[in-house]
Amino acid sequence: MDDDLIKKIIHYHEATKHHFNKPARGPGFMDWSTQPDPFRGFEGAPVARLPVGATDDSPPYRQLFSTDAIPPAPLNVKSLARFFELSLAISAWKQSGVARWALRCNPSSGNLHPTEGYAVLPAVEDILLGPGVFHYAPIQHGLERRTGFSSELWDELMGGFPDGSFLAGLSSIHWRESWKYGERAFRYCNHDIGHALAAYQLSAASLGWVLILLDEVDDALIASLFGLDRDADFEDAESEQSDLVALIYPGKANSSIPLDLNADVVKKIAEGTWQGKANQLSPACRPWEIIDIAAQASLKPAGHKNDAETFSGIDESPIMRMSPAMETVSAGQIIRQRRSAVAMDGVTHIDCEDFYTVMAHTLHRLPCAGIPWSPRIHFCLYVHRVNGLVPGLYFLVRDHAKTDLAKENFKEDFLWEKPEGCPGWMGLYLLQKGDFRQISAQVSCTQAIAGQGAFSLGMLAEFVPSLNEFGPWFYRRLFWESGMVGQMLYLAAEYIGVRGTGIGCYFDDPVHKILGLQDNTFQSLYHFTIGGPVEDTRLEQ
Ligand SMILES: Cc1cc2nc3c(=O)[nH]c(=O)nc-3n(C[C@H](O)[C@H](O)[C@H](O)COP(=O)(O)O)c2cc1C
Repeated sequence: MDDDLIKKIIHYHEATKHHFNKPARGPGFMDWSTQPDPFRGFEGAPVARLPVGATDDSPPYRQLFSTDAIPPAPLNVKSLARFFELSLAISAWKQSGVARWALRCNPSSGNLHPTEGYAVLPAVEDILLGPGVFHYAPIQHGLERRTGFSSELWDELMGGFPDGSFLAGLSSIHWRESWKYGERAFRYCNHDIGHALAAYQLSAASLGWVLILLDEVDDALIASLFGLDRDADFEDAESEQSDLVALIYPGKANSSIPLDLNADVVKKIAEGTWQGKANQLSPACRPWEIIDIAAQASLKPAGHKNDAETFSGIDESPIMRMSPAMETVSAGQIIRQRRSAVAMDGVTHIDCEDFYTVMAHTLHRLPCAGIPWSPRIHFCLYVHRVNGLVPGLYFLVRDHAKTDLAKENFKEDFLWEKPEGCPGWMGLYLLQKGDFRQISAQVSCTQAIAGQGAFSLGMLAEFVPSLNEFGPWFYRRLFWESGMVGQMLYLAAEYIGVRGTGIGCYFDDPVHKILGLQDNTFQSLYHFTIGGPVEDTRLEQ
């Protein structure tokens, strides 16, 4: 059964590769008459507006990376408001001519924002009256109450979890992305889930809270918990794919927390009275059958126990370069100012200490400890302008145990030299010296930003070995992990004073050719570039 589904998901992946002479199948033009509304709402559901922080009282950004530095905030309206404000909220606007559009703390391919946020919360002061299931509405910075239930049911649901915990969820509206990107959209939706999950995690960390993905909960149960399977509430509206539910709790990471939910309790919640009907985002949708097949094939089934090897990530701050200017910059400031560079200046150099700080962000317990599996995403790096590092092709193996697997699969004549001055615990290797500016832009769908930054990278997933080890549902998690480390790269870039951009448009197989990959052991999943940005005059922060 799994073998068939794995074949289907590999077929999806192969069919949605961009090739130099043949892009993945898409609509071929922008049909503005069906442009999806970027904001989902549930008409008829009562909305609790969350206050917007008048002043930034978030802790210094550096403290997110130190254990115990941030005392856990109590769960109240203010902390809940900040949790959503620093994860999924609108953080800036852009204007060009008469067009004006919102940007959020979480990035999104094409700024289309297929990701929707949910929460299951207890009674919180006098704005959330009694426990309930809520949809986060960024346009109002509010929580739409879909259903309520008793305190007894809340206690049953959360029994076994630390006091003060709540649940946060994510789902995807595939149509929002496929409207523009066609068949490749399922990939982008899952990248975006990874970005949003890391955004939740960082925002939680700024409140002294810890996030763990409840990875034993199956997709059908998540759909039921958040009301995504309530066909009558989505009558004319585009459906949402259930993605994940995470536990957020105050205090320290704790590996003995169960990763499942009680299905009987979820069933009782689902049988309650629900309010609101999902809005229709487009007057008409064009179906993309291959996305439905891939989504179906990669659903997480019930009954899976997580026995994956976990990786808690590196800890503490020696990895974070101390720059006096950045010593006190707040977490809120970095998270809100995060933007995608639309172009790079082609001249800015960064220091290798800053480069190591950026890499360390992706190896830290944020984001590693939130996902109960060891890293499956590694970086093929094109270093262009990093003081102290010779330009060339590098490899960062995010899990040392996988170095041999990479050596067996990469070109035989690579150097595998550790750069002088590189921290001992970092698995960074120089593979080949040279000028990769043109090549890196070329493999990123000829986007100049990949060659004009200080460096760019391709994220390589341990592909077929992971699907065989876990199952077809892990396909989505590979993208989630890439999106999570992508979110860390975005923030790290802001922290060292430059800017990043996620790159979902790349030529898949040409990247494999650079490394000499012959099969599906590794697959390229996402690109990223970091460097000195060209100012975007359309931006209003
Ligand atoms: C998964 C993903 C793929 C992206 N791909 C590209 C890309 O190929 N080229 C590009 O210029 N920007 C790309 N972006 C950046 C988005 O265009 C950007 O996030 C969006 O416009 C919102 O802007 P913001 O990041 O400043 O909030 C990508 C972002 C994500 C999350």
